[in-house]
Parts: sequence; structure tokens; C-alpha cells
Amino acid sequence: MEIEERSEILNTTGMFLLDGKKVRNDVVTDLKKESEKFYQAYSRRPELAIIIVGSDGASLTYVKSKGKLADEVGIKHVDHFLPEDTSEDELLNLIESLNEDDDVDGILVQLPLPAGISEEYVLEKISAEKDVDGFSPLSMGRLLAGYHDNVPCTPKGIMRMLEYYEIPIKGQDVVIIGRSNIVGRPLSILMSEKGADGTVTLCHSKTRDIKKYTASADIVVVAVGSPGFLTSDMVKNGCTIIDVGITRVKDESKKKGYKVVGDVDMESFRDRDVKLSPVPGGVGVMTVAMLMENTIRAALKRKGERI
Ligand code: GUN
Repeated sequence: MEIEERSEILNTTGMFLLDGKKVRNDVVTDLKKESEKFYQAYSRRPELAIIIVGSDGASLTYVKSKGKLADEVGIKHVDHFLPEDTSEDELLNLIESLNEDDDVDGILVQLPLPAGISEEYVLEKISAEKDVDGFSPLSMGRLLAGYHDNVPCTPKGIMRMLEYYEIPIKGQDVVIIGRSNIVGRPLSILMSEKGADGTVTLCHSKTRDIKKYTASADIVVVAVGSPGFLTSDMVKNGCTIIDVGITRVKDESKKKGYKVVGDVDMESFRDRDVKLSPVPGGVGVMTVAMLMENTIRAALKRKGERI
């Protein structure tokens, strides 16, 4: 069922769907202006290097959508499609040369990497000023210290979406399920820092009774990659739910043979008074928009501008 159809049905029952595309379109309008301003000032486009190793279908799809939005916004992207058998040294050498290339403002290495290449070494190699994904240890440390230059894109997109829909975080009980460096951990920092002021509980695979925490939460973010994981009996009325799960499940009725589903059991939420960011149509599109924002900001910062 497409999102528009579903939202018609669900709106009759009290559920409110948060529309990622709407927020993303607002962001993109601003980014186009910022990128044009950069071009007028410096006679070149902000430039993003995108690296992907191997041919994982989902990763290739994400990388394609990043390039597409870069084109739309006016960011130059140079794609490096490397074969599956690329060695760690080859990848590190490429990153080194991109670090030194003055025209490159942002470097993105699509994860996961093939077995045999150390994610830690690779992320650590990306120069902090060009780390638009915000996954390097230096960027993570800066985030912990309250710097907001390279905030990881999915958590940043979630914060922007809550802001857009005027959903308060201050003083609210927030439960995040999933402690990855890409989503849960950085989001827990953003939501609990001064100014955001949420009270955050970070649950994970070893948490004994997740429902104990979600049942009283004002905001639940679920990022575990397990379809149907969050059911409506786990949350209270009035709760805001952000679904970050992305799983491909077989669906012969689709042209591609699969559909993408999140971690929320949508059917069980039909009659519930909740606000919900669904999959697809929720934070996914925000992630890519935030990557473009980080790239333009990195370009401006490299020109000595304060951002
Ligand atoms: N793999 C899954 N999510 C992401 C992301 O946001 N950035 C990169 N580089 N890889 C990912």
C-alpha cells in the first residue's frame, strides 16, 4: 500500500503520519539556495566524493539516491565504484588522496564494507573536515562535546523532523531501541544534550524487558532492522514513534520483487492515537537531505566561513 493511500485510512482512526518527504522538500529548497550562493561566491560547486566497495544491492540503491539528490541540489558528486576484492590499502590510499584534494569538500564511504576491510581504520582515515557522515572517531567525539558540524545524517534528520512537526523533546521521556554508531548512539547524545533536554533511555539487544521502557515513553525511536518488532501494546496513547528500520522483504507483486518495511507493526497501530514516522516515507529521505546539508556546510567551513 502506498503511503498516500495508507495515510487516508489511518487518518480516520487517529493515527497521524509524519511525512518525511514534506520536511525534506523544505530542506531541499533551502539547500538549493545555499549551494547556488556557494557557487556565486567561489565559482565552483560543493563537491562530494562517494565511495562504494562491492555490489550490495541495497547499498547501490542508497548511493544512487545520494547522487540523485546531489544533482538536484547543485552539489558535484564524484562516484568511486570499487570492486568487491578491493584491498584495505587500496581503499585507504584513495581516501588519503581525496583528503588531500583541495576540490573535495566531503567524503562518504558507504557501509557496510566487505569482510576483510576494517571499518574502524577506514572511518578513522577520513579527514575530520570532510567527514560528512560524521562516523569517524574524531567526529563522534566532537558530537559528544557539543559540536554540531558533522552530525550523523539519520539522527540529524530525526531531530529536524521532530522540530518541523513541533514535537517537544524537552523534559520528555525518550526511548531509543538500537545502539549503533549510525543511529541510536549519536541520537541519544543529540536528544539528551542541553537545549534538547530529553531524558533518554538507550535500549539494545541485551535489554531485558524493552516494553517496560517503551510503555511510558513519550517518544520511541526504533532502529533494530526487525520487521514487526514494535507493536501497539508496547506504547501509550499520544506517543510519537520514529521507525528507522529498513528491511527488504520478498513481494512478488512489486516490480523489483521486494518491498521495504520498517520495524513497526503498522497494522497493530491502526486504531491508536499516535504520531508515527513510517517506512517508507519517513526519515529515510531526511537522511539523504542531511548529507547534502553536511556537504554544503563542510564546503563553507573549508572556505573559512563560520557555520
Ligand atoms: N549505511 C547505512 N546507513 C549509512 C549512512 O548513513 N552512511 C553510510 N556511509 N553508510 C550507511
